[in-house]
Amino acid sequence: MDGMVRRLRVSGSGFAYDAVIGAPAREAIAEVRALLIRDAFAVFVDERVYSLHGEYMDGIFAGFEKYETCLVPQGEEHKSYARAEWALNWMLEKGLSRRSSVVAVGGGVTGDFAGFVAALYMRGVPVIHLPTTLLAMVDSSIGGKVAVNLAAGKNIAGAFHQPAMVIADIHFLATLPGREFRNGLAEMVKHALIGDDDSYRILRRASPEEIARPELIAEAVYHSVRFKASIVQRDEREGGLRSILNFGHTVGHAIESLCGYSGFSHGEAVALGMRAEIEYSRRAGLLAEGDRDAALDLIGRYDLGIPNGGLDGRRVMEHMRYDKKNRQGTIRCVLLEGIGRPVYDRTIDEGLMRQVLDELLA
Ligand SMILES: NC(=O)c1ccc[n+]([C@@H]2O[C@H](COP(=O)([O-])OP(=O)(O)OC[C@H]3O[C@@H](n4cnc5c(N)ncnc54)[C@H](O)[C@@H]3O)[C@@H](O)[C@H]2O)c1
Repeated sequence: MDGMVRRLRVSGSGFAYDAVIGAPAREAIAEVRALLIRDAFAVFVDERVYSLHGEYMDGIFAGFEKYETCLVPQGEEHKSYARAEWALNWMLEKGLSRRSSVVAVGGGVTGDFAGFVAALYMRGVPVIHLPTTLLAMVDSSIGGKVAVNLAAGKNIAGAFHQPAMVIADIHFLATLPGREFRNGLAEMVKHALIGDDDSYRILRRASPEEIARPELIAEAVYHSVRFKASIVQRDEREGGLRSILNFGHTVGHAIESLCGYSGFSHGEAVALGMRAEIEYSRRAGLLAEGDRDAALDLIGRYDLGIPNGGLDGRRVMEHMRYDKKNRQGTIRCVLLEGIGRPVYDRTIDEGLMRQVLDELLA
C-alpha cells in the first residue's frame, strides 16, 4: 500500500491544504486530528457508502470520541437547499459549535452538499473531504466549489469553500459500479486532453480492465488531481484559465438539462460533449485530423460518450443557448487546437455545431 501513497499541496490566495491519494483514510485523517478534536465534528456520509463500508468507516473514526453521523440519501435531488437548511438545524441540535468541523464521505453529491453546509454553518467551519467516487476524487473534491440545487437549476446556491484536507482512499473504489467508474474516467480523459500529459500517457497505455487496478488507478488519480489543482491554483474563481475545465461541458450540460438530469450520467454527457467539441474543433480548422482521431480514440477506448439514439441535435442546441456561461446571445465553448492545447471562451458557429451534433447523435 505504501507504494501507492502520494501527496500534493494545493495552495492559492489565502488557502493551502494537502490532498493525500492512496493512503488508508484512518492513517491520513490523523493529520487533521487537532482540527477534529477542537470540538465534536459532523460526518456527512452517503447512505450507500455507509451501507457498504460502515465497518471500515468505524475504523477510520475509531480514535475519535465526539462526532455525529448524518446519512445523506443517494441522488442529485437530495443536494437541495431545503435539505441543507435541515442539516444546519441538525448540526445545531447536535450541539456542534463554531469550533466544529465537517467531514464529507461520499461522491460529489455528498461533498458538494456537506461542503455547502460547512461554508454556511456559523459563518463557516472547516470541511475535510473523503471522496468515494472516482469523479469526486479527481474533480469535485478539489477546487473549493460547493453548492446545492434550487428548483430553478443545478448548483445555483453555492460558495467557494476550500477544504482543510482531501483524502482519496482508493479502498472505496472497489465497490463503485462500472457506470460510476466511467463517469470519473470521463473527467480524467478530459484532463488528459486539455493538458495533463501524465494522464494522457497512462490512459493511452492502459486497457479498460487494467486502469481499475488499485496501483494504476491511484497513480492516475494522483496525476489528475495534480492537474486540476494546478489549474485552480492559478485561477481560483474561474476568471479565465479555469474555464478550460469546462471542455465537453457546454454540449454536456445541454444534454443533461435536455434529459432532465436522468438518462445520461454527468460523465456520459460530458464524454458526448467532448466528442462533439473535438469534431467541431476539427471542422472549424483548429484541430489537425491526427489529433482529432487520437482524442476520439482515447474517449472510445474506455467506451465513453456513446449516443443512445434518443437525442435531437436541434433541441441540444436550444439548451446550449440557455447555458449560464453564455454572453450576449452567443454560445461559447472550450475547443482544442491540439492534444493538450485547449482554447476557451470561443464563440461557436451555430450552423456548424448543429451539423456536428446531427451527425454524432444520428
Ligand atoms: N464541486 C465541484 O467542483 C464539482 C465538480 C464536478 C461535479 N460536481 C457535482 O458532483 C456530483 C456528482 O458526483 P458523483 O458522480 O460522485 O455522484 P454521486 O455522489 O451521486 O455518487 C454516485 C453514486 O455512487 C454511489 N457511491 C458513492 N461512492 C460509492 C462507493 N465507493 N461504492 C459504491 N457506490 C458509491 C452513490 O451512492 C451514488 O449512488 C454532482 O452533483 C455534480 O454537480 C461538483
